[in-house]
Amino acid sequence: LPDPDASALTDDDVASLLPVPGAASDKYRRGVVGIAAGSERYTGAAVLAVGGAIRAGAGMVRYVGVAEPVAQVRARWPETVITTLAPGEGIEEAGRVQAWVLGPGLGTDEDALAIARSVLASDVPVLVDADGLTLVAEDRTLLRRTAPVLITPHAGELSRLLDVPRERIEARGLEHVRRAAAELGVTVLLKGSTTLVAEEGRPVRVNPTGSPWLATGGTGDVLAGLTGTLLAAGLGGYDAASCAAYLHGIAGRRGPLSAGDVVDAVPGAMRAIMDRPQDDG
Ligand code: APR
Ligand code: MG
Repeated sequence: LPDPDASALTDDDVASLLPVPGAASDKYRRGVVGIAAGSERYTGAAVLAVGGAIRAGAGMVRYVGVAEPVAQVRARWPETVITTLAPGEGIEEAGRVQAWVLGPGLGTDEDALAIARSVLASDVPVLVDADGLTLVAEDRTLLRRTAPVLITPHAGELSRLLDVPRERIEARGLEHVRRAAAELGVTVLLKGSTTLVAEEGRPVRVNPTGSPWLATGGTGDVLAGLTGTLLAAGLGGYDAASCAAYLHGIAGRRGPLSAGDVVDAVPGAMRAIMDRPQDDG
C-alpha cells in the first residue's frame, strides 16, 4: 500500500536537484569535500571514499589521514589535496572544506577518536559512516554540534546506535529510520536491500534504484564519498543522501562488480540522469 509518509525520487527529481556547474563556477564554489577516513590497517576505504567524491564531480577533495592511507590515496587519486596526520593528531583547520565525510576505515582507537572529535568540532555539515558510527555509538555527545549531521548506517550500525536488535531493524526499516532521525536529531540514510532516507518533518524517501550487485565490500565507502560531494555542493542532507543513493543504485546496476567498478560507474550514472531527453511538458 502507498504510505503517505514515504516517497520515492524519480529521474526528474534527481535531475533537478543535481548541481551542474555554471560559467561562473570555480572549484571552491562547486564544493570542497573533506574526507577523514582510513587508518594504518584499513587503507582501501579511504581510496574508495575519495574516489566516490572525485568521480561525482567535487570541486576539490581534501584528504586527511595517517601515513599508509595517505600513500595509497596519493598514488590512486593525484587530484587530492592531502594532509598527513601524526598519530593522535586531529585536523587543525578546515581548509575551505564545505562538508566532511568521517569514518570509513578510520578505526575506533584513540587516534581515530582524535580525528573524529576535530572533524565534528568544525562548523560545516558532517557525514558519519562506518567506524565513525561506532565512535558515536560509544559517545553520543560527539553529535552535539550546531551544523548538520548525516549518518549512513547499515542495519548493524544502526542497531548499535539505537540499541535495538539488527533483525528488528531489518524487518521494520521505515519505523527505525524515522525513530533514529527523531531521537538523534540527524538525517539518516539506512542502507540495505532497500535504502531509506529520513529527516524529521519530511516523508521517508525510499530509494527505487538499489541493486543486489552492490552487496560487496567497499560499496558503502563509495556511497559516502559520493554523498559528501553533493553535500559540499550545497544540497541539504536529505536531498544529498537520497540523490546519492539513487545514483549509487544506477552505478551498481550491472554486475558482476567490485567497489572500484562502482567508483568508475558514478560519472555514467550521473550523465544518464542529467543528459537524458527532457520532458518539458
Ligand atoms: N540490494 C541492494 N543494495 C544492497 C544490497 C542488496 N541486497 N546489499 C547491500 N546493498 C548496498 C547497501 O544499500 C549499501 O549501499 O550496498 C552498500 C553496502 O554498504 P555497507 O553496508 O556500508 O558495506 P561496506 O562498507 O561497503 O562493506 C562492508 O561494512 O559492516 C562493515 O566492517 C564491515 O568493512 C565492512 C563493511
Ligand atoms: Mg560500510
